[in-house]
Amino acid sequence: MPYTMSLVVLLLLAELVGLTVVGLSITWFAKYGGGFALDKTGKEFNLHPVFMALGFLFFNGNSLMTYRILGNNVHRLFAKIVHFLLQLVALICASFGLACVFQFHNANSIPNMYSLHSWLGIATYSFFCLQLLLGLTLFLIMAVFSPNSMTNLRKFYLHFHVYGGVLIFVMAGAASLLGTAEKISFSIPNYDQLPPVAVVANFFGVFIILFVGLVCYVLYSDKFKTAPNTDREYREQINVEQ
Ligand code: HEM
Repeated sequence: MPYTMSLVVLLLLAELVGLTVVGLSITWFAKYGGGFALDKTGKEFNLHPVFMALGFLFFNGNSLMTYRILGNNVHRLFAKIVHFLLQLVALICASFGLACVFQFHNANSIPNMYSLHSWLGIATYSFFCLQLLLGLTLFLIMAVFSPNSMTNLRKFYLHFHVYGGVLIFVMAGAASLLGTAEKISFSIPNYDQLPPVAVVANFFGVFIILFVGLVCYVLYSDKFKTAPNTDREYREQINVEQ
């Protein structure tokens, strides 16, 4: 797939919007929420939204776009490794973000797992882990060590892997919006007067939708898809992935 001007512009825009999401979360909790610390107080809670946005939105979104960013110009195995490493970084950030909120809740005797946000959030995290494990085993480890085994299973799962990856990303966006609405209701009592913190929180939500929308557009737009390739060497490189 050759890089086109529209793909480059869209990818740059997606990066800008993704970084704005992370920047807005930091601004919200650093400027208006008291800052960050690992001290089991509200400052530890503040690490939760920032690391969830960094992991499950920014790094996850970039991982989904790996094959569009790298195109056909690199060896498929290299692209798969980059895709996997970005997912791994996303998981590390999200695990830290979750540990912070659970530690904050437990230290302050706040009940766990009561909200729709927490249910959707933990489902997102569970599917993410499952998807990472299956993808790593079937498309990376097996592609390297046993490329000719279970090809039918791998072809079959590839379809669900692609759909599941986008679904998990959309679920992360939805969970983040629910968490945002919940945090606003807990911590901005004069929300109806739209103080500066409310503007930042609202923009955080708006940019989450923008980022999810842009990433999905890049992924689903036919003109950016990796072109079907009949070249034998290329088909061998990508193994089952075509
Ligand atoms: C994909 C991203 C996210 C996931 C997977 C996620 C997951 C979770 C989970 C599992 C809990 C429950 C912790 C417990 O019960 O002790 C929780 C709590 C919480 N999260 Fe998130 N979260 C995400 C993003 C956010 C964001 C962006 C905010 C915005 C401020 C946020 C705000 C909250 C709040 C206020 C709580 C405490 C109240 C509650 O348990 O619902 N979360 N989150």
